[in-house]
Amino acid sequence: MKYYIKTFGCQMNFNDSERIKGLLRTLGYQEAESWQEADLILINTCTIREKPDQKVFSHLGEYRKIKEENPKALIGVCGCLAQRMGYQLVQKAPVVDIMFSSFNIHQLPELIQRAQAGYKAIAILEEPPQDEDKLWEYPTVRDNPYCAYVTVMKGCDKNCTYCVVPKTRGRQRSRSIESILKEVKQLVAEGVKEIHLLGQNVTAWGQDIGSHFSELLYRVAEVDGVERIRFTTGHPKDLDEKIVKAMAEIPQVCEHIHLPFQAGSDRILKLMDRGYTKQEYLEKIEMLKEYVKGITFSTDVIVGFPTETEEDFEETLDLLKKVKFEQVFSFKYSPRPDTPAYSMQDQVPDEIKTERMQRLLELQKSILGEIAKSYEGTLQELLVESVEDGNKFIGRTRTNRWASVKSRENLLGRVVKVKVIRSHPFSMECELLN
Ligand code: SAH
Ligand code: SF4
Ligand code: F3S
Repeated sequence: MKYYIKTFGCQMNFNDSERIKGLLRTLGYQEAESWQEADLILINTCTIREKPDQKVFSHLGEYRKIKEENPKALIGVCGCLAQRMGYQLVQKAPVVDIMFSSFNIHQLPELIQRAQAGYKAIAILEEPPQDEDKLWEYPTVRDNPYCAYVTVMKGCDKNCTYCVVPKTRGRQRSRSIESILKEVKQLVAEGVKEIHLLGQNVTAWGQDIGSHFSELLYRVAEVDGVERIRFTTGHPKDLDEKIVKAMAEIPQVCEHIHLPFQAGSDRILKLMDRGYTKQEYLEKIEMLKEYVKGITFSTDVIVGFPTETEEDFEETLDLLKKVKFEQVFSFKYSPRPDTPAYSMQDQVPDEIKTERMQRLLELQKSILGEIAKSYEGTLQELLVESVEDGNKFIGRTRTNRWASVKSRENLLGRVVKVKVIRSHPFSMECELLN
């Protein structure tokens, strides 16, 4: 039996798919090269904006053809759109045999059995079930042998007014430190060097189980063989001095943080219910720079939130100029059903969103050009993840930039010191140092 999984959305969805692959492998399934060869096709969906919703239905239109060749083949939909739409999704796409969400991935074995017996196996729950931690008993199947994601919390307790995640992923549930460390040790034993802790709001990890994210960082760093630690996503509100101090003290924590600010205008931040002002965000950036020497930043921004004026938008541009992010993920505001912002007055017309987005991208392009230049001649450390053309080794710097280095010796999986010779916006060429 073979499976094929198509994944949309964030790293958490990506890691869920890695876990689903591990579960299916445990059941005796192998990965198919293409969907045409699969006995089970799964789409792990995202519903953060309108666009990913549409993609799911166009993919289902394509995948349904599998049943002409292989009438026993099963088609499943999981993830955030499944959770949000529930039965409505099956009504719209009757070809779906199996449906579940991030709440109950561990129930997939039973769902497959039910679907094989000819029933519709739809399991969309209102609340996460008591036994959801069973999920961690399954391994993950990963493409990258050296860098691994580890989900440390599920759900989100924030209530950003534009966002569907608290609805699709439920309340914040921190995974226990024992369960996390067990997985980290297993990964290191398999050759993983870099551990990337994941959660919608990792900096709030522990708050619901009487612990603190800094504690988790120290404990993960104590595991023998962990050479690098990253985490995503941090929320500015929960990023406190204890966490920043841990980042500075722990040698393995990389000098980079993804810290979404979403908007520069205090009025818009308030309407979004983000829980900080522009000034407070900038203070967090200053604290990070002070403690963690050489730290770099990336962020998420929403353009055209309801009522956003030209002056509001200029505050966003101003923040980009002040912080100089190495990466900016910018999104046009997309109204999501059942969120408070959906019914706010004064939605911004699409032409204005597009025009503001272009200006933002233009500005960021020039900032990134400057940043890229500043890397030339510097010494960096790379964790080599892949190789091209036999001798071109590719890895990431601790500051999260892609770089390549030529070597006759095999550098895969190694942390090497390099000097940057040429630096472009999205890549760098380096020279190996002895
Ligand atoms: N938990 C993370 C973000 C998760 S969603 C955080 O709070 O930072 C990833 C990004 O999608 C968000 O940071 C936001 O920039 C964007 N996003 C979320 N909802 C959106 C919406 N309705 N329209 C446009 N962008 C949105
Ligand atoms: Fe959504 Fe806000 Fe939670 Fe991020 S912190 S997942 S944007 S509600
Ligand atoms: Fe999308 Fe769900 Fe992630 S809505 S961004 S897959 S949490």
